[in-house]
Amino acid sequence: MTGQGSVHSSTGGQGYDLVVVANRLPVDFSVDDDGAVDWQRSPGGLVSALEPVMQENEGAWVGWSGAPDLAHEPFEADGMMLVPVTLSASEIRKYYEGFSNDTLWPLYHDVIAPPAYHRQWWDAYRRVNQRFAEAAAAQAAPGAVVWVHDYQLQLVPKMLRELRPDLRIGFFDHIPFPPVELFQQLPWRRNILEGLLGADLIGFQRGGDASNFVRAVRRLTDHPTRGSVVSMEDADGNPGRRVRAAAFPISIDTQRFDDLARSPEVQARAKEIRADLGDPDVVMLGVDRLDYTKGIRHRIKAYGEILQDGRIDAAHTTLVQVASPSRENVGAYQELREHVEILVGRLNGEFGEIGHSAIHYLHHSYPPEEMAALYLAADVMLVTSLRDGMNLVAKEYIAARSDLDGVLVLSEFTGAADELAPGPLLVNPHDIDGMKDTIVAAAHLDPKEKRRRMRRLRRKVMGDDVAKWSKSFLGVLTAMPSRDTHV
Ligand code: G6P
Repeated sequence: MTGQGSVHSSTGGQGYDLVVVANRLPVDFSVDDDGAVDWQRSPGGLVSALEPVMQENEGAWVGWSGAPDLAHEPFEADGMMLVPVTLSASEIRKYYEGFSNDTLWPLYHDVIAPPAYHRQWWDAYRRVNQRFAEAAAAQAAPGAVVWVHDYQLQLVPKMLRELRPDLRIGFFDHIPFPPVELFQQLPWRRNILEGLLGADLIGFQRGGDASNFVRAVRRLTDHPTRGSVVSMEDADGNPGRRVRAAAFPISIDTQRFDDLARSPEVQARAKEIRADLGDPDVVMLGVDRLDYTKGIRHRIKAYGEILQDGRIDAAHTTLVQVASPSRENVGAYQELREHVEILVGRLNGEFGEIGHSAIHYLHHSYPPEEMAALYLAADVMLVTSLRDGMNLVAKEYIAARSDLDGVLVLSEFTGAADELAPGPLLVNPHDIDGMKDTIVAAAHLDPKEKRRRMRRLRRKVMGDDVAKWSKSFLGVLTAMPSRDTHV
């Protein structure tokens, strides 16, 4: 990387050599009654994935503060320069809740919920992407590396290249890239592809996502492709820049979860959790953002039927479902919450007793220490997504289980399944009967088999942490031939 690690003043200086651009800053702002602005760390997979990289590189991070109309000067936090981008309340509605989370999110997740296509949302998406591109252009040093993240910012690579042709631009798509047969529903499909093609390197979670992207480019644009490389010919048909699409499966800070779970405090807390749950024989755990892609309803349905069938003893089994609040102004999320809460209430009414609940449903998010204790307390971890780019919870569970105890039940429709098979017990969450059989098998798994599987999972996960992921992406990005090299 060019001059990696040197940090200059964000105003008037040369700028930063590594700039991350993501929808959210890794902090949440709050404004109190007197108008004083404060910030706290914000949760989320992307944040925990990138923080170590940023601290190591002392880079700048361009992102939204999470609050409406909040204008804030760039500031330093935890070894990173944070550069807030302001969004108005109307932009939050149209760009974030609308186009990002009610158009692209469902479209990219196999249309599990119907995507809504609104031209006003698209206009806001374009406008906000331009603002992010301008903010990144203002922070980047000459020849800097800029790493743009996720579906909210797919137009930024092209916009940024137009502003700053000297930059080396990478893009990483954290969520699935859909098959062209679904992607082509999008009225602005070409604009999105051209936006992404402004990057030099486009990273995806799975090989399948990268090939879906290249197929879409082949089908919907005129750019020639060869394997995973797209040639950006100029208007006269002369060869120009080459864009590469490839898989870089993301991971977590594995050591952190391993350390946390080995700490006496967390181990004591895990015991306490089990005791507070009434020391059941089997504790099952689900940990998700409350999102319809996560298969929470399918999971609870399967669990309820198992109790109903008497295949596991309701009096001695508990499911703890952490469902962290997410995108609460989007209709599909509100509906999901209602459905899940009705299901939970019904099941607890039927199978609960005084002092014992069939499901402990927790609509909160928790700090990593508490998460590690929950992972340690859980005999069976249920990850049953209908579609999931990767699923970092599965990896956190594995990293926390140095005791080799615990079974991971994992949906085939996660990026993690591509990487981790055959260690987990794989399920198709649409096949309720199949999932019931697997959950029952997980609850009764032979201890030797349990250890064998967890050992295999840990061999995979512990060596592949997030630092390796970012190094490998940035390594490929910076090693690519310069844009002027015609091959
Ligand atoms: C997914 C996305 C991220 C997003 C996160 C939380 O992991 O890939 O880009 O930040 O969900 O969602 P939110 O809408 O709260 O940022």
